[in-house]
Amino acid sequence: MGRLSIHILSIFPGIFEDFLNYGIVRRAVEKKLLDVSIVNIRDSAPDKHKTVDDLPYGGGAGMIMKPDILAASLESTVPFRENRRPEVIFLTPQGKRFDQSHANKMSMLDEFILICGRYRAVDERFRETYVTDEISIGDYVLSGGEPAAMVVIDAVARLIPGVLNDFESGIEDSFQNALLDCPWFPLSKTSGTFCPMNISGLVNHGQSRSAF
Ligand code: ADE
Repeated sequence: MGRLSIHILSIFPGIFEDFLNYGIVRRAVEKKLLDVSIVNIRDSAPDKHKTVDDLPYGGGAGMIMKPDILAASLESTVPFRENRRPEVIFLTPQGKRFDQSHANKMSMLDEFILICGRYRAVDERFRETYVTDEISIGDYVLSGGEPAAMVVIDAVARLIPGVLNDFESGIEDSFQNALLDCPWFPLSKTSGTFCPMNISGLVNHGQSRSAF
C-alpha cells in the first residue's frame, strides 16, 4: 500500500487508465506514495444486464443510481470496520467547492474513496448512510463525477510529501499562499535572456482577448 490509498467507484473505470499513466500522478504511484484502485460499480450488480440505476420514485426524467448496488460496491472495496472508516467522498455539483486547502487536507489522509455518480442522481439513503463529504469542482454540471475525481487526485497527489522534487515543491504552487503565480518564460541558453517565440503572421498581436 502507498502512503495514500484512493479508491474510485465508477461505472466507467476505463476513463482512468491513461490518466494514471502520466506525469506527477504516475510518479506518485511509481514511488509507492500513492495507490489508486478503480472499482467498476457494475461488478456489484447481480442481474445479467449489470443494471445500476432505476426510474425515479415519484416520476420525472432521468435515472437514479441504486443504493444496494453502490453499497455492495463500496463494502467490497473497503470492508468497513471499527478501525477502518475511510472518508467516502461523493463528487457532485451540490458539494463543497474544492480548493487548495481541501487538497492539502486530503493529501494528509491515509485512505479515501471517491464515488463518481452518473445519471440524474444517487439514492438519498446511500448518501446519508455512507457519504462523509461531498465535493464540487465548480459551479457547472458535468455528465459524471469522473473528470472531477481526476481533478481531485491530480491536486492531491502532488502534495504528498516526496512526490515533487524540492525545486518543483507544491508549497510554491499558486493558491498555497493565496496568490496566483507570476508569468514565466523559458531561458534561452544561447542569449542568456528568455527565448524568442517564433509566431506565425496569423497571430493578431495584442488582440488576444477573452470571449467571455
Ligand atoms: N459531477 C457533476 N458535476 C460535478 C461537479 N461540478 N463537481 C463534482 N462532481 C460533479
